[in-house]
Amino acid sequence: MIDEQGFLARSAATFRGMLNDLKRDEASAADELGVDLSLVVDILAARRPITSELIRRAVALWPVNERDFFPIHDDAPSGVRVMREADSAASSRIIERAGSAYYEYRDTAMSRIAAIRPEWIKILNMVSNDDPDCALVRWNNGHFLYQFTYFIGPVNYYYSWDGRRHCARMNTGDSVFGLPYAPHSFSTRAPSEPGLILALTFGGRLLGDAQHELGVLSEDAVGKITRCGMHDTARSSFVRIEAAMTERNCPLERMAEKSGLPRSRLESFIEGRETPDIGELGRMAEVLRVSPRDLMPWIDDTQDGVRIVRAAEAAAWNFPEGNSPSYHFRELACSTAASFAGAFEVTPLRSIVDDHAAEIDIGMHQFIYVVGDTPAVVYWRDGDHEQSELIEQGDSIYIKPYVSHRFRAALPGGGPDDCKLLVLRVGGRLTGDAACEAAILGSSGIKRLRHDLRRWYER
Ligand SMILES: [Fe+2]
Repeated sequence: MIDEQGFLARSAATFRGMLNDLKRDEASAADELGVDLSLVVDILAARRPITSELIRRAVALWPVNERDFFPIHDDAPSGVRVMREADSAASSRIIERAGSAYYEYRDTAMSRIAAIRPEWIKILNMVSNDDPDCALVRWNNGHFLYQFTYFIGPVNYYYSWDGRRHCARMNTGDSVFGLPYAPHSFSTRAPSEPGLILALTFGGRLLGDAQHELGVLSEDAVGKITRCGMHDTARSSFVRIEAAMTERNCPLERMAEKSGLPRSRLESFIEGRETPDIGELGRMAEVLRVSPRDLMPWIDDTQDGVRIVRAAEAAAWNFPEGNSPSYHFRELACSTAASFAGAFEVTPLRSIVDDHAAEIDIGMHQFIYVVGDTPAVVYWRDGDHEQSELIEQGDSIYIKPYVSHRFRAALPGGGPDDCKLLVLRVGGRLTGDAACEAAILGSSGIKRLRHDLRRWYER
């Protein structure tokens, strides 16, 4: 379900924002675009959709792009989308490699709002060894999206990094986080039944606007962006400090004088011999008038492009703390390289006969897949009332950011291991720097940004 009227209203606000930024009122916009004034007025009043002809003329005339005109569709107006196992099964398609059936893919819950593309995959290729160079293993070329993979059954996971191939023997409950563009593959181990994986791919900060900006920069510029590998913490710290100093044309002498840090110490940072402590970063940030976090080093905890977490080694805790927790959490494979994402196995400790389960209210997009035998009930707040859905093994759901929700096991007396949810959380466009900006804008500014249809001045 798509909210058409909401889309029209957001299109109107998007168009008004563009006209305000370009300092055009209705009359001057209509005149320059060569369209009837009533069309511009109607678009801004959300009475008519924007026309392709108007967009074509605007792009030819103004410094705007076609994509600037379009908001996104809201396909989860209640806050949650549910995909039943039967609907997933209906999306089944077999992907062949070298003429043989290799994978069966099925879609699970997805939304137009979130860059999460989760697939249920049955592994049809079977091997009887752990050799990453086995001729039966067909590798892909790698892909741009990050991949979190959860394993069900005995599955070999193959991954390639820096030209070296690896094979990891995975079993139920094991999980792996993988960096973009690393070639990988999967096989089941004979004589087992075909194994399953939940391959949850998701986009990071380069997806979308950043990707399109990269597309129009020169090769030389792209080389400068990537001159520092994340695997070198000291060097990544230096690169960030150097970039901030360069952007403000701040010579070393001035930095030493204003920060009070010895020049020799600053030189050791720049040469990557030493890493500044938090106090030193703070002093440099003050000189540059940036946030200290802009100078912090990047940390990549992947090894050979992956982080593998075995089921038996996963960190686990109850939430909330105290005598009557509502959930048991197990942390699955995630990485500091993509700290906007996290993955968990969540077991609801309360059943539907209990009167309480703690609410979860977080600012991340969530994909949830029922892996356990015991169904769960998800409850969520939609405006003033609470909705609920029974979700069973093989069902999956998407939950919007800040939709308050809770889970209970659907069968009274269901043990902790019977009801199990696989949860992937991915921060959207409103996390990180955008969250800082939103905090500065405040609630009235954010409300205006969402819906403002007014001209930037009154006549
Ligand atoms: Fe993949």
